[in-house]
Order: sequence, then C-alpha cells, then structure tokens
Amino acid sequence: MAMVCLTDFEEYAKEHLSKATWDYYAAGADECCTRDDNLLAFKRIRLRPRILRDVSVCDTRTTVQGTEISFPVGIAPTAFHCLAWHEGEVATARATEAVNTCYITSTYSTCSVEEIVAAAPGGYRWFQLYVYRNRKVSEQIVHRVEALGYQALVLTVDVPYTGKRRNDIRNQFKLPPHLRVKNFDGVFEENAGPEEYGVPANTLDPSISWKDIYWLQSLTRLPIIIKGILTKEDAELAVEHGVQGIIVSNHGGRQLDGDPATIDALSEIVDTVQGRIEVYLDGGIRTGSDVLKALALGAKCVFIGRPAVWGLAYKGEEGVREVLQILNDEFRLCMALAGECRRPVGVITAAPFQRHPVPWFFTLHFNFFKA
Ligand SMILES: Cc1cc2nc3c(=O)[nH]c(=O)nc-3n(C[C@H](O)[C@H](O)[C@H](O)COP(=O)(O)O)c2cc1C
Repeated sequence: MAMVCLTDFEEYAKEHLSKATWDYYAAGADECCTRDDNLLAFKRIRLRPRILRDVSVCDTRTTVQGTEISFPVGIAPTAFHCLAWHEGEVATARATEAVNTCYITSTYSTCSVEEIVAAAPGGYRWFQLYVYRNRKVSEQIVHRVEALGYQALVLTVDVPYTGKRRNDIRNQFKLPPHLRVKNFDGVFEENAGPEEYGVPANTLDPSISWKDIYWLQSLTRLPIIIKGILTKEDAELAVEHGVQGIIVSNHGGRQLDGDPATIDALSEIVDTVQGRIEVYLDGGIRTGSDVLKALALGAKCVFIGRPAVWGLAYKGEEGVREVLQILNDEFRLCMALAGECRRPVGVITAAPFQRHPVPWFFTLHFNFFKA
C-alpha cells in the first residue's frame, strides 16, 4: 500500500494495533469534542496565496531555542512507544536524528532516557517533565536528562489529574507485563497500590502552581518550555516567570473536553507574547497546509503527537521518517503554492473561513526563518 498522506498511516495503525492500544492512542477526554475540533479548526482556515514571487528555491529550515532543525515540525511527547513498535522510543529517536528535527521525549517512555540517547547520540532532544508529589522524583530525572545532554525541559501543566478517557476505562487499559515506564525503574515502591498508566495512581502533584517554576529554575540551567497554555493570561504569566517558550496545547484533547482547538487559541497568545519568547503549537497537525497555517498565525514550530505513533506502528524508525518526510514535502509544496519560498520572508495571511460575512484576515509575518 502506498503511503501518501498521514491518514494512510492512521488507517494502517488502526488495522494493525490491538483494540486496547489503538483506543489508548486515539483517546480524547469525555466526548472527544476538543480532540476532534483540533482537526476541524484547521479546516475552517483559508490561506491567502501570493503569486509571481519566484518560488524556485525553497528553504524549510528554522531554529528552535537557537538550534537549527530541518523544518518546523517536531515530535510531541507521547507515552509508551513500545506498544506501537518493539523498539519503541529508540526508533523514534533514530528517525528524528536522521531527519534532523526535535524529539520531545515523554517521561512515560518505555525505553529509558539512557537507551534513547545511546541509540541516537547526535539527536536534538527536549525532555517532557511532570511534577510529582515526591519532588525528589522530579529532581532526579531533571538532573539525569541534563547530564545526558537533553537541551530543554518541557513542563506539561495540563495534567493535575488525568482526563477521563472512556475507552481506556472500558478496556481497563494497562501496560502489558513485558513493558514498563523504564525511567522509573526502582523509583516507586513495588506494590504501591493501584496503577494508572504505568505508574502508581496519584503520583502527580495537583498542587503545582506558578511558584514551582522558580523551584524548577533553581534545579536546572536548561531552558524551560511550558506545554499546555491556552490563554493570554497564562501566556503573560509564563513570560513574567522567565520561561523560554510556550507550547500551545490541549494535550491532543485528552484532558479538558471543552478546551478550544489549539489553532484557535494561538493568535491571542502570539499577540500577548509579542515575540518575547518562542511560541509553538501541537494538536491536530495532519498536513503541510496545517503547518503553514500555524506558522502564518505566529507559531515558530509545531509538533505532532499521534501521527508519530502511527508511523511507528507502520514500520518503526522508517515509518516515523516517512511521516516526517511526507509532512516536509507537503509543507514545502504549500509554501511554494502560497508564494512563500524565498528569503527575505514576505507576508502570508491565514483567514478563518466563512466565519464572518466580511472576511477578517489575520496578517502575521512568517517568523520561522533565521536570516
Ligand atoms: C497516546 C498519547 C500519549 C501522550 N502522552 C503524553 C505525555 O506523556 N506527556 C505529554 O506532555 N503529552 C502527552 N500527550 C499529548 C501530546 O504531547 C500532544 O499534546 C498531542 O498528542 C498533540 O495532538 P495530536 O496527537 O493531534 O498531534 C500524549 C498524547 C497521546 C495521543
């Protein structure tokens, strides 16, 4: 079967993964309104193409936190890659190293951070972090990933409690006995009570607040990026607390059902931040034109969650590479067709489609090229 677009990988994964695994990856919270709106919102936006602008040379490179990557799409943190492919996160790391983009490793990996780094020593990686009731657990992992050469910490802030994912409850989802959250080997007591997604339940600290950003800053010299911001108020607080980046994210619709689609939340955050720190987005990116729209609305880079897992389910490292390559090719083509292929970078705009009787155009400059 020829794999032409990301939904081909989705279909393959749905057909070949066990039902419980597929349901776990696909899940949204409650009625999945936010999960689904992440995709639909992109389809409500139209681009304003410019013409006769010599698109014969195209350069998709960008920088994130000062490091160059081949195109403005990285891998969002997703848990349990060994459920999709036996090599798990090691395969994801190799694929992102080959493509030269950013891989955000989930805390809940089924390979350890040491195995991931050893498999792709030249890869560009950030580490996704949660804050635990036992702060020592967070402290130890921060020191571990810093020593291993991870280049930033991504603090996920939208999980004070886990969202209600109905199919996981129906399926009584559990990691199979041969898999575990390897980063926590020996960390939590054995038989520490009921388990939730591979770790003892209630280990995350729901009392975390803005002051804990200072605590995290005191532990590390790595840049801190907050993942899970959806409002201008929190974007402003993030800047005031001295973090280096924001990922506009609703956790792929897996947490609060009723959150806005991330692409709909992006503009108010970009407007508030005013370029003081980098703003990224994840949620619902499935085509090159989605990438272009997010960039036109001010994101510096976007990240894909589920599509990477579908790539893994298809062919491990090769599958993830194919997913990234298809997105890169589509993005490059969209750029050219929109008249936005050369430096110096001009202006392209994205507009919500038919939402207003008189079209109301965003006018934001592309900001993903480094001169
Ligand atoms: C199966 C799955 C597991 C995830 N695990 C994590 C995680 O461990 N940490 C985290 O911060 N976000 C996690 N996320 C959220 C993703 O980082 C990301 O926000 C989301 O998947 C983006 O939406 P998309 O899947 O539509 O691309 C997970 C998402 C999925 C689908």
